[in-house]
Amino acid sequence: MTDIDEGVEVEDYAWFAELSDDDQQEYLRLLEEAVGEQWELAAKQRYAEAVWRKVDWLFYGGAAGGGKSELALKHANDLSTQIPGHATLILRQSIPELRRSIILRMVVRKAQFALPAKLRKLDGVTQFKYDNTSHIECGYLATDENLGQYLSAEYGCIIVDEASLMASTQIITVASRLRVTKTAAKLGARPHLGLFSNPGGASHAWLRDIFVTPSDYGNRIVVYDISQGIENAQVSRTYDAPITVASATDTQIDNILIPWITNLDIQADVEQDLVCAFVPAKATDNPHIDPSFMRGLNALPEKRRRQLRDGDFDVFDGMYFDEWRRDIHVVPYFDIPDGWQLARGADFGSAAPWACYWGAWDNDGNCYIYREAYGAGLTPIEQARKAVEMSETPRIDGTPRKESYYASVADPSVFADKRGMGKSIADMWRENGFSVTRAKNARIAGWQNVRQYLAVDPDHGPKLFVMENCPNLIRTFPLQQTDKKHPEDLDTTLEDHAVDAVRYLLSVRPIGTKPPVSKVGLTLDQRFSRLIHKAGAKPKRRW
Ligand SMILES: Nc1ncnc2c1ncn2[C@@H]1O[C@H](COP(=O)(O)OP(=O)(O)OP(=O)(O)O)[C@@H](O)[C@H]1O
Ligand SMILES: [Mg+2]
Repeated sequence: MTDIDEGVEVEDYAWFAELSDDDQQEYLRLLEEAVGEQWELAAKQRYAEAVWRKVDWLFYGGAAGGGKSELALKHANDLSTQIPGHATLILRQSIPELRRSIILRMVVRKAQFALPAKLRKLDGVTQFKYDNTSHIECGYLATDENLGQYLSAEYGCIIVDEASLMASTQIITVASRLRVTKTAAKLGARPHLGLFSNPGGASHAWLRDIFVTPSDYGNRIVVYDISQGIENAQVSRTYDAPITVASATDTQIDNILIPWITNLDIQADVEQDLVCAFVPAKATDNPHIDPSFMRGLNALPEKRRRQLRDGDFDVFDGMYFDEWRRDIHVVPYFDIPDGWQLARGADFGSAAPWACYWGAWDNDGNCYIYREAYGAGLTPIEQARKAVEMSETPRIDGTPRKESYYASVADPSVFADKRGMGKSIADMWRENGFSVTRAKNARIAGWQNVRQYLAVDPDHGPKLFVMENCPNLIRTFPLQQTDKKHPEDLDTTLEDHAVDAVRYLLSVRPIGTKPPVSKVGLTLDQRFSRLIHKAGAKPKRRW
């Protein structure tokens, strides 16, 4: 063991001596590494903190090593020194993790910057007690029983590090202990929660659904109405960032994003609204990271690599479309050039959403999904009108465009007269201008086809692209999960309307097939309309 520098103030050598050899080495390494450096936040950390000042719940998450835990400690220290009597709770899942990533580091920072705090143990809980009576409590939360330790106290700030390892119910329960007195509020205290985590783990899906997806990967602040409970949270309003947060440079963060969030006037009802934000963390955000750390991340197996290196929340165990990559498959909107083959695919729903997608194939057989109709509560007539209206969307420059479809296909069940009205959904659609034919409904073959379209060839990329104006498809592609009983199929209890419609659409042209040209030189739609027209034009028979 190396000697501890005499000038470094560590008041509890006995405590240090109790540590395992590994922890002692870690402590010394950190101490040596830290000496002489400033404790200043990097650009993304500064942005995350600026966001945190404006919102109730912040989720700062993504790639490993982005500087999440460090921000947590710095923030806790700032609150403690600036607001006398402030209480912060920092939680990790287990004591060894807590000691290694929080307590040891805080001891280092305390020594390095001569923080006016003492390390204490109170009822078995480690605390940093500041001279101004503020304190940072370092706790662990592995089981529901551990929750009890924190439920009698009040904290101005609660930080859950590696939050995705804990159950969402535990996080919500512990967040209920956020409270500040009026006196503390006058001094600047504000109840706020910070969740810090990499993707993966028990509450991955919850974090993704509350923070990541609704915020469009950190590009908007989301205000939820939680009057019916957080599990029934409804988005009441959102505030869009002026630029894409994940790809912003340090200069853009300082000149555009931080001024934007600092001056943002967020409207929220104190009693029933909860303001939430997600800030995506990348390992490259952290200038202090050792380059060899990146090599370790690059060497990880695919899924874990996407989670820990890229901070990708779309990937998780049990996901059905492994191939889906938001950064590769999603492309900006553009006008479809003349001559590309067009088709439409629809999936019916009334209480559940109905979905319709427009696809265009380029000359290399790549399909671009370029338009989306999606939503619940429309009658079949309204759906047909919407499809017709959207099919006449003008070009970006406003000039009209007449589209002609090779095929328009739909869920085979729309052809059944299920309601006993003598008419099927397809009949009602057709009467209102939206004519469809029966899509192939072989589910497994259909999904295989979708996956082949998605698969990313190292030289040529994928064969399927989704334009940005299809938010529900982009949102639900990564949410699909494998059916536990039929692993080759997806779980139909989830929101699968968009992917079903796309499966129908892509079945029009199975991967690798040539553009279908009809013998008579007409598209299927044109032949179908012509037949219908002919049938209608026939002189009525007399009976
Ligand atoms: N602003 C900073 N100043 C000095 N060092 C920093 C700063 N931010 C991060 N570091 C250092 O970079 C390393 C990684 O940071 P940190 O552990 O906070 O990242 P993380 O995102 O929490 O990582 P993980 O995903 O492994 O939990 C640590 O050694 C930390 O001390
Ligand atoms: Mg960390």
